[in-house]
Amino acid sequence: PLERKVDSVLKLMTLEEKVGQLNQYNGFWEITGPTPKEGQAAKKYADLKKGLVGSMLNVKGVKDVRALQKIAVEETRLGIPLVFGFDVIHGYKTISPIPLAESASWDMEAIKKSAAIAAEEAAAVGLNWTFAPMVDVARDARWGRVMEGAGEDPYLGSKIAVARIQGFQGDDLAATNTILACAKHFAGYGFAEAGRDYSTVDVSETVLQNTIFPPFKAAVDAGVRTFMNSFNELNGIPATGSKYLQRQILKGDWQFEGFVVSDWGSINEMMNHGYAKDSKQAAEIAINAGSDMDMESSAYVDHLVALVNEGKVTIAIVDDAVKRILKVKFELGLFDDPYKYCDENRETATVGKPEFQAGVLDMAKKSIVLLKNEKELLPLKKSGQKIVVIGALANDKTSPLGSWRIAADDNTAVSVLEGMQNYKGNQITYKKGADVAVGRTEFVWETKINMTDKSEFAEAIAAAKGADVVVMVLGEHGLQSGEGRSRADIGLPGVQQELLEEVYKVNSNIVLVLNNGRPLAIPWAAENIPAIVEAWQLGTQSGNAIAQVLYGDYNPSGKLPMTFPRNVGQLPLYYNHKNTGRPEMTEEDSVFWSHYIDEKTTPLYPFGYGLSYSKFEYSDLQLSASSFTQGGSINATVTIKNTGKVTGKEVAQFYIRDLIGSVTRPVRELKGFEMIELKPNESKTVSFVIDQNTIQYYTANSKWEAEAGDFKVFIGGSSAATLERSFSYTN
Ligand code: IFM
Repeated sequence: PLERKVDSVLKLMTLEEKVGQLNQYNGFWEITGPTPKEGQAAKKYADLKKGLVGSMLNVKGVKDVRALQKIAVEETRLGIPLVFGFDVIHGYKTISPIPLAESASWDMEAIKKSAAIAAEEAAAVGLNWTFAPMVDVARDARWGRVMEGAGEDPYLGSKIAVARIQGFQGDDLAATNTILACAKHFAGYGFAEAGRDYSTVDVSETVLQNTIFPPFKAAVDAGVRTFMNSFNELNGIPATGSKYLQRQILKGDWQFEGFVVSDWGSINEMMNHGYAKDSKQAAEIAINAGSDMDMESSAYVDHLVALVNEGKVTIAIVDDAVKRILKVKFELGLFDDPYKYCDENRETATVGKPEFQAGVLDMAKKSIVLLKNEKELLPLKKSGQKIVVIGALANDKTSPLGSWRIAADDNTAVSVLEGMQNYKGNQITYKKGADVAVGRTEFVWETKINMTDKSEFAEAIAAAKGADVVVMVLGEHGLQSGEGRSRADIGLPGVQQELLEEVYKVNSNIVLVLNNGRPLAIPWAAENIPAIVEAWQLGTQSGNAIAQVLYGDYNPSGKLPMTFPRNVGQLPLYYNHKNTGRPEMTEEDSVFWSHYIDEKTTPLYPFGYGLSYSKFEYSDLQLSASSFTQGGSINATVTIKNTGKVTGKEVAQFYIRDLIGSVTRPVRELKGFEMIELKPNESKTVSFVIDQNTIQYYTANSKWEAEAGDFKVFIGGSSAATLERSFSYTN
């Protein structure tokens, strides 16, 4: 019946109107102000009235959405409703942790709930489509957009992709508290050379299939309704113009039935790539390759009619794209009620509601990773302590909102200082010490990243001298990661490292709270500072979450979703690397092995790592059999005991190694995980199934299959787990 409805609309459409459905404009003008008379806005406004627009992005708020929907529905010939897209990446007004931080929770229910909160709030302001989740696997922390993804692992990334999609889309797309999700950026965007945003991507089919594609495939299987292609070229072809990606893999092999939107202007960017000579040729390439909707290039609306008339694009290709878009509009229920997301009362009652605050606080606590805790510095004592809090980020109510939170107002996050001041028993003094960044807005980046002013060092050092504990909140401002914010140096920006070392000279009882949107290289801190808390950018409730962890009212359970390097020169650094022909030094003093002469090859903190105020001991790893055959399976079990003094949660991680493959295999691959809660002295047995699914990969036969051979299993609290067993598989 849906197909029939779609066809019945398609039949009525002129070629111009069909092309209109494939056109998405950014609504940057004052929507409910005077009608724009000139420039871009006037053209867009006129196109809207002519039915030459299928979707708008960046128009938000019931009043504005209603105004444009009214034009589409009441002033165009066919009255086809618009779909309204927006980057609801980690919240709309109520901001949850950046996606990388949420991923550190390894808690799929919490992540799903966080996306559901974002969807409900966004839907209440007229939106029905988010450009999220970003499911790009990324191994290079220089890339600023690692903050927006789930980190370096395809297995964890796939689970998180599914959780986010389920959270955004819910069970019923036609409900008024769910929105369309968009898996992006298809594909390879996270593999930009040298971590420089938008840069060239050149990867093998093995990497594409085994590492980059799995979260996208999982997104399709989870029913994601839209995909976004990507700015980068992939192996010489811009992703936006790639038939291989969009027609062969996505719409062919995976049978994706939703629609693909281009990235912003990425159709026209094919001219810069050196792949299209003009916008018209770019439009031809993109539509033929399977990009259904044009975001902000105007290439389709300007040229597609002519391209069809000239026979360069078939009407069947245009019809297919239009049908995909109409279908999604039907699924949302927009044809029944185009104003269903435009209810002022719901908007007022929903935006920022208290339950959302509780939800993002819960997510924020679960996202924190305890990296180090010596000298029993943490948790902090609740009374009788002189605590000095140092760092510009400690007193910042904007930075914790992170990047990609375009609807949230500055100064709306709870700062660390405010969170700590809610605990009244201690004497708390604050000193800034040094600035991190200045001149920041979401889209205009005038920030000086290397602040050099040390004039406030002395005051901070003097205050630290007499303190019982110094809490130093250092790292990146929330807008020092994100799109276009690649860094060549991933240490603490500016003079923060110097500040840390100077304070340490007078008082070594330092708890370092890191705020950052990517892994940082902080070898000195890891060596010298007794307690380190990875607190990312945690959103609206950031300071409360951090304070609850510092004071032990919440026992941290996060695990790193991305490797922390010792040195930026190690990048890309990831746990599931290959072994190489020379993995270790075989002869005394040899130099001819795969290493650096000036740095270790190992990470500072490995993937999956994270401590707790409890202590967990793994023992008794057992396999139910030492081999299995096609269709069979074995179980791996392990016992975990809490030998600490408080109840805590632990994420047990299950890795395998395939020793010999028709294509060389990674030294470890995550294949399962389970979060358990244990009281002091309590033990639990956790078990994982090993079957063909566990061991299959994209082999030299260019297909997913399980190859016979020998394998190792590792289970533990990180990717460096040491308990191991062996098994074999025969087919
Ligand atoms: O969704 C984003 C995308 O990730 C990067 N370019 C712009 C899009 C829309 O804002």
